[in-house]
Amino acid sequence: MENRGLAADLKYQLYEATVQSPEWQVKNMPLFHKKFTGQIGTSMREDFSGTGRISCDWAKKSKSNRAVGLDLDPEPLDFGERMHRSRLKPEIRSRVTFIQQDVLVPTREKFDMIGAHNFSFFIFLDRETLLKYAKAAFRSLNKRGTFFLEMAGGDGFIKPGSSEEKITVPGVGKIRYSWEQHQYDSVANTNDYSIHFKLPDGRWMNDEFRYHWRLWQIREVREILSEAGFKRTEVLWPRDEKSGRYDAVETGEHCDVWLAYVVGVK
Ligand SMILES: C[S@@+](CC[C@H](N)C(=O)[O-])C[C@H]1O[C@@H](n2cnc3c(N)ncnc32)[C@H](O)[C@@H]1O
Repeated sequence: MENRGLAADLKYQLYEATVQSPEWQVKNMPLFHKKFTGQIGTSMREDFSGTGRISCDWAKKSKSNRAVGLDLDPEPLDFGERMHRSRLKPEIRSRVTFIQQDVLVPTREKFDMIGAHNFSFFIFLDRETLLKYAKAAFRSLNKRGTFFLEMAGGDGFIKPGSSEEKITVPGVGKIRYSWEQHQYDSVANTNDYSIHFKLPDGRWMNDEFRYHWRLWQIREVREILSEAGFKRTEVLWPRDEKSGRYDAVETGEHCDVWLAYVVGVK
């Protein structure tokens, strides 16, 4: 039991170090919220929050900021509570809440911004469920709220194979992060993905995270958001490969792998 607890902690520690970059969301969500609504956004709901890092960083950024993280799984929520939320100063901690809840159910509390990052909503396999999610988010937003959905796609995102990266994780050492793309299903438009880690002692943690995703297209997601009631939708597209800057666009060039955000504006 204790070993499982340690292994679970390690897997989230490695995930955070290799996959997440909360600085991007904390900096850019309020900038684009202001650009699209003219309003200053202070409250933010982090959907599929896992360990809730974005929520904690959001609350740290300003005294007026408030964040709520929603996730179905108690395990990452518990890690986030012990490793992040409980370590915040009491005043900051009081502005962060983690809730074990399905994102398909609207929250009573309403927010300026809601975000689903790292393609998490790709877990919804049919239009009806994605529409239900968009409607639930719409109902959970303040009057001029914004809903950020991070997406990825392109031929390179469905080609079977794996890519590896060596990363030094504080307290753990030099590890190898492996992203594996399994066989794409052309009929269902779904693909399976795995994350494996190789530890400094040479041991592999295989399939620590596994996803079965529908590869939604930007255009169909925009249509679903409009159907859910959003007044308009915007698309954020990376300006280049390195700067982390995104532009609002209406066209996008062909890319082997593309990343983008679709934003619903209420
Ligand atoms: C890909 S992880 C995302 C972790 C983190 N938010 C990130 O951006 O890297 C997906 C998370 O979504 C959660 N999840 C899946 N379905 C959900 C649902 N319907 N409602 C809330 N959380 C859900 C899982 O428990 C898991 O922690």
